[in-house]
Amino acid sequence: MKLTQSQLETFDRDGYLFFPSLFRPEEIKVLLDEVPALYAQRRPENVREKTGDVVRTNFAAHLYSASFARLARHPRMVEPVTQVFGEDVYMHQFKINGKQAFDGDVWQWHQDYGTWSNDDHMPEARAMNVAIFLDEVNEFNGPLMFIPGSHKLGVLEARHDTSTTSYPLWTINNEVIGKLVARGGIVAPKGPAGSMILFHGCLVHASSSNLSPWNRVSVYLSLCAVSNHIRRFKRPDYIAHRDFTPIQCLPDDCLLKEYEVSLPWKDRFVEPVRQAS
Ligand code: SIN
Ligand code: MN
Repeated sequence: MKLTQSQLETFDRDGYLFFPSLFRPEEIKVLLDEVPALYAQRRPENVREKTGDVVRTNFAAHLYSASFARLARHPRMVEPVTQVFGEDVYMHQFKINGKQAFDGDVWQWHQDYGTWSNDDHMPEARAMNVAIFLDEVNEFNGPLMFIPGSHKLGVLEARHDTSTTSYPLWTINNEVIGKLVARGGIVAPKGPAGSMILFHGCLVHASSSNLSPWNRVSVYLSLCAVSNHIRRFKRPDYIAHRDFTPIQCLPDDCLLKEYEVSLPWKDRFVEPVRQAS
């Protein structure tokens, strides 16, 4: 999939592009059907909400789930990112965010590149965030919010917040957010399952909690230009990947046909099967 000149200009101005219903319901079903089994696994890649056992985010499923491994190589997702950077990309981070009905907690205001720079020593903001909706996203189930144009300001001052939620994040203070919103407003792209958002690593974003009875499962992928790979390995490898191999796309029907993919972490951390005595 190729971006038009006008889409490239919109991305440059606003810091994001929204593609409603880019993936078909039958393609999304293949992915969503896998999620309960992934969330049920007891492995460090499942980060749970601070209130209980509900999964907030699952990391690196593309390394141990065939369907998500195929999504990670999908041309509708990878090609526009390669086009923006003008070079091959590798997977820097892959997560399936639960934002489960009633329990899904907030994501405070932040920029992802702040973390990639501070923690991972990624040289430049040449990594793209991609969100793919596995459930419908509406105004009630905690849609992702953006401050359009905020990516133009580079890396903003941030504080490492280790207490608000179960997942530490470099967050931006309320006063700064107030000024940014006065200038750029807030948008929250909403749409059916199968919709996709591309957003800049410096775009300021957040989401509120999910008090609705509807899950808001979305896949968040971060694809980094290969020459811009991270220089420091401080965070666990399932959060910030250390394999900089360029992504090779599969054909467009890869979510519906069983193309072979490698699953190097299939047996990693899986609990041993208990023998009946
Ligand atoms: C993120 O910023 O990484 C996730 C935000 C969300 O799931 O709403
Ligand atoms: Mn983020």
